[in-house]
Amino acid sequence: MTSLLSAIAQRRTFAIISHPDAGKTTLTEKLLLFGGAIQMAGAVRARGEQRRARSDWMSIEKERGISVTASVMSFEHGGLSFNLLDTPGHEDFSEDTYRTLTAVDSAVMVLDAAKGIETQTRKLFEVCRLRDVPIITFVNKVDREARDTFDILDEIEKTLALDVCPVTWPIGMGRDLKGVYDLSADQVLLFDQTRGDHIPDGIDMPLEDPRLDGLVGAEAAARLREEIELVRGACPAFDLDSYRAGHLTPVFFGSALRNFGVRELLNGIGRLAPPPRPQPASPRAVDPAEDKVSGFVFKVQANMDPNHRDRIAFFRVCSGRFRRGMKLKHVRSGKQIALGNPVFFLARDRELAEEAYPGDIMGIPNHGALRIGDALTEGEDLRFTGIPSFAPEVLRRVRLDDPMKAKQLRKALEDLAEEGVSQLFKPLNGATWIVGVVGMLQFDVIANRIESEYNLKAGFEDAPYDTARWIHADDPADIKAFTEANLSAMAEDRDGAPVFLARNGWTLNRAQQDYPKLRFSATREQP
Ligand code: G4P
Repeated sequence: MTSLLSAIAQRRTFAIISHPDAGKTTLTEKLLLFGGAIQMAGAVRARGEQRRARSDWMSIEKERGISVTASVMSFEHGGLSFNLLDTPGHEDFSEDTYRTLTAVDSAVMVLDAAKGIETQTRKLFEVCRLRDVPIITFVNKVDREARDTFDILDEIEKTLALDVCPVTWPIGMGRDLKGVYDLSADQVLLFDQTRGDHIPDGIDMPLEDPRLDGLVGAEAAARLREEIELVRGACPAFDLDSYRAGHLTPVFFGSALRNFGVRELLNGIGRLAPPPRPQPASPRAVDPAEDKVSGFVFKVQANMDPNHRDRIAFFRVCSGRFRRGMKLKHVRSGKQIALGNPVFFLARDRELAEEAYPGDIMGIPNHGALRIGDALTEGEDLRFTGIPSFAPEVLRRVRLDDPMKAKQLRKALEDLAEEGVSQLFKPLNGATWIVGVVGMLQFDVIANRIESEYNLKAGFEDAPYDTARWIHADDPADIKAFTEANLSAMAEDRDGAPVFLARNGWTLNRAQQDYPKLRFSATREQP
C-alpha cells in the first residue's frame, strides 16, 4: 500500500490554459502519448469524433471549431501520477473553466510563438493569479515562423507582471529551427526537420563545447551563445519558491505538433510543479496529509452517456486516502453517501476508482444529489471556498414549441442548470422560465442539447431583463416588502432563493438606493 505522504508527493494535478488554436489539444495528445495513455497521436481527436457521433450537441463544437466540454485525463510518467484537467478555451465557457481551475495545483500556459499572449490566455491567467496557481509556460509552434524570443519573454513579463525564467531556449525558429538548448541540464536537443515527430535524446553539451558548432552550424551556435549570455544576465535565476508562489514562470519552447520539447515540458512539470496543496476552506484550510478524507465537487456533467441518464460529479480529493465503498458525509444535506462506484478517467476509458489520493479527480455517478461546490467529508462540516457562481449576463425567456411537454422541459432545464451551464429562474408571476448564461453561445448549446438529449424543441426569446441579482437581508420582512413592490421583476432560482431581475443598470441602482437594507449580490456562493 502506498503511504499517504508518498502518494501526495507523486501527484501533479494541472490544467492547460490557452487561447483557442494555440495548440492545447495537440499538446494534450502528446502528453498523453508520453504517459502511455494513448497509443497513437490523434486519439484525443478520435475520441472527440466518437463523442460527436454519439451526441448531436457536439456538432456545435464541430461547426464552430471550438471545444466545449472539459474533461479529466490521468496518466503516469516517470514514477509520477499526472491528472490533467482540460478546460474549454472559448470565452463563452469561462465559468466552467474558472471552476476547473479551482481543482488544480498548477497550470501550463500554452502560447503560440507567433502570437504571444492573446485575450483568452490573459483572462485565464488572471483567474490563476487570483488563486496563486503556479504557471509553467510552453511557447508552442517554434517550427513555424515566430516572433523574436526576447520579445515573447518581454511580453509575458510586462503584460502578466511575472518574472520569466527560460528553462529551454530555441536554436533558430521556423525553417531554421535547429533545436532547443536546455539551460537546466546543459543539453542540446536537436530538431530533425525531415523526420516527422522523431523524439531526440538530449546531448550533454556545455555551451562552450566546440562540437556545438558542428551540430547546429557555426552561425546558430554563435547566436545561441550570445543569446544565452544575455538571458542569464537579464532573467532572474530560477527560484522554486517564487514559481510556486505564482511570481515566476519557467518557460519551455517546443512544437506540440512535431512532439518536440514536449517530453522536456512533462519532465519539467514533474520536477517543478507542486504536489497537492492545502485547500482553502471554512472554518479552516484542509491539508492534503490529514488522514480523514475530504474533497469537493467542481463540475457536474449530465448525460455523458445518453443511454443512461446519469450525472457525473467531478470530485477533487483534498485530503486522506479514499477507498471505494467508503461512506462520506454530504455536508450540504447532512446525509451520508456511499461511494460504491466512483470512476477515474483515463484517456479513453473510465475505470473503477479503488483508491484515490489528494489531487486525484474521481467521477461520482449520481442522480442529482451532488452539486457544484458540495463538500464530502468523513463527518466534519467543511465548506471549500472560492468556487464561484457568476451572475448571468444574458437572460432569455424559454419558448417551448409543444406546450404539452412543459414538464419534460423543466427537467431538462434543471439538469443543465445543475451542471452549471446556465442559471434557471422562475418569475413569481408568469409561467415561462428565464434562463441566464454568461455568454451567448451557451444558448445554442442548451437548445441543441435539449433537442438531442431530451427530444424537445425549444427556443429562446428576448426577455425584458438585463441582469439578475440575488437578494439578501437580515430581516426577511425587508425581502418581503421589496418583493411585493417589485412583483413583476421577482423570480426564484432553482433553490427557491429570491432573485431580482433588473431591466437595466438604472433600475438596479434605483432599487439599491431605495432599499438600503437589502444586499444585491452578483454571485451566489454555493449554498
Ligand atoms: P487548441 O486546442 O488550442 O485550439 O489548438 P489545436 O491543438 O487544435 O491546434 C490548433 C492548430 O495549430 C492545429 O492546426 C494544429 O495542428 C496546429 N498546431 C498545434 N501545435 C503546433 C505546432 O507545434 N506547430 C505547428 N506548425 N502547428 C501546430 P489546424 O490546421 O487548425 O488543425 P488540424 O487540421 O491540424 O487538425
